[in-house]
This record gives sequence, C-alpha cells and structure tokens, in this order.
Amino acid sequence: MRSVVFAAVVAMLGLTGSAFAADKPIVIKFPHVVSEATPKGQGAKRLQELVQQRLAGKVVVEVYPNSSLMGDDESMEALALGDIQMIALSLSKFDRLTKKFQLFDLPFLFGDLTAVERFQQSPAGQGLLHELEGKGYLGLAYWHNGLKQFTANRALHLPKDASGLKFRIQESDVLLAQFRAVDANPQKMALGEVYQALQTGAIDAQENTWSNIYTQKYYEVQKFATESNHGVIDYMVTVNTSFWQGLPADIRTELEAIVKQVSQEVNAKAAAIDAGDRDRVLATGKIQLVALSADERAQWVKAMEPVWNKFRPQIGDELLNAAVAANKPIN
Ligand code: LMR
Repeated sequence: MRSVVFAAVVAMLGLTGSAFAADKPIVIKFPHVVSEATPKGQGAKRLQELVQQRLAGKVVVEVYPNSSLMGDDESMEALALGDIQMIALSLSKFDRLTKKFQLFDLPFLFGDLTAVERFQQSPAGQGLLHELEGKGYLGLAYWHNGLKQFTANRALHLPKDASGLKFRIQESDVLLAQFRAVDANPQKMALGEVYQALQTGAIDAQENTWSNIYTQKYYEVQKFATESNHGVIDYMVTVNTSFWQGLPADIRTELEAIVKQVSQEVNAKAAAIDAGDRDRVLATGKIQLVALSADERAQWVKAMEPVWNKFRPQIGDELLNAAVAANKPIN
C-alpha cells in the first residue's frame, strides 16, 4: 500500500501526464479477477465492444479477466500509477482508502439488490462515487453482482456452526469483525488463491455470490452452501482521476455515455445471472443447499449485530441511515 499512497500523491499533483498522441488510440487497460461469465465479466466485455463500435481508432479497451494480468490489490496500485486505466473492484476493497465504504460490508444491511440499487442511486450513494476523487480514484458507476452466501464443509445453520472455521474474506476489516463475531477465524486472501486454499484445506469456508461460487467452481471443494444473503458484492467502476480529466472532452463524454449504458445493462441482468448460477451450482449435485428458517436467520443477524456498533462511528449515521432507508421503497 506504500506505493498507493505515493501514487495518489503523484496523481493529485497531476504528474502522471495526460498528453495523448493524436495518431494512436488511447488504451484503457481493464483487469479484473472474475470469470467473463459473471456480471462484471460481461460488463467489461460489453464496454470493450461499445468502445470498439463508437470510438474506433480513438480508444481501445483491453480486458484482462480471471486475474490474468494482476490481482485486485495490485490493480489498485497500478491504477494510481497510470499503468492501467480502469478497475471495478468490489466495494469491500476500498476499505483501506476510506472508512465510508465499510458501509457496504455491514452484515444484513440490504434486503436485496433492489435496495442496494436504491441506495446507490440516492444522493448519498452517488456522493460516494466522488469520495476518493482527491486521492486519484474517480468512481464512474456502480455495477451489481449479488448477495453473498456461505460455503463450508460443514452445514452452517446457526452462528455456532461457524465457530473455529477458517473463512476466506476479502480485504475488509468489517468482514474480519463479522466472522470474529461468530467465533470463526477470518483470513484475508486474494480471490485467485481461494480455490486452492479450499482444496488443500488451508481454509475451511468462504463467502461469495452465486455467480462467483459457480464460476470459481467452489462446489467442487465445498460440501454445503448456506443461503444466507447476508451481505453484498458490488463494484465501483473506477478510473484514475487525472487520466480521466486529461482525456479530450469529446472522447470523455462518449466514454461516459458508454459507461452509463453498460451500467444500466449490467445492473438490469445481474440478479438473473446470479439466480441462474445458483441453479447451476445446485444442478452439479456436488454441494448441498442449507436453507435457513426465519428463526435461524434471526440468530445470525443477532450474532453479527455488534459489527454495526463497532463501525457506525467511522461510517457515520447519515450514510448508515440512508442505506437502511433504502430497504423501503420511496412513495
Ligand atoms: C472477491 O474477492 O471475492 C470479489 O471481490 C471478487 C469479485 O470481483 O467479484
């Protein structure tokens, strides 16, 4: 992270350079860590396709899926340094740059993706896209993936069932606290390492969306999936602030229109992709579904409640209240 701080300073000072050669297309390198079949994977491909159609000869988007160019941690640094131009990291991973993003990881905050969407489109949600602008990271849009489920080699019905299990988590202190609240042993790990860690028994369990569980093939190395819907994995499509502001205005305007269109498309189909991948995971017959009764679910909510209190002061009541309010439609 030392270089992120350095790069953010460089970006703020505008030293990354914004001169674009007139005779060469501007290259936007967009690495990510998931499969091309996931909502984010499809969004990145669609962005590439629309840029090809509408900005041919002017801009080229190079997409690198499946951690093929780099992992998320590295991409955060590379964006700040100007080595790559676009990322769409899970919101959990901005935790190190601003405490406000910790909001998104609070367990059982959003009832469904509609609530997530409502919050993200609210003034509070839109404001967060600009939260890191001064540090060199400009948010252009949110993309949905879905709600998280637990997988393990033990059937997790109640919080006590998670006790002692080693859970892989994303880089987030809220997620650390979430699993400590149920006496589990959370370990931060890059997505690209998780399958093998589950296979070798280095970790016992993990949490992710159905689309990531399916495309990362966790059903091959986990016996049970608890349908908990206890949190969300969504993304912020992010560019280097100086890079973006230095783009020729007509190109930036067209890119903004493309990002807007792709975001609407991704967000409209994310829930369907996730539901389809849930069915595909279960159809493998390799993993057993654990459905929670209302009482069991209430016990998870209660066990994880202290996490809210711990992080509320740093997130701020205003933001938290806006997110809670998003669970109800505005009349
Ligand atoms: C994870 O690390 O589990 C997710 O952030 C991966 C992703 O990008 O969906």
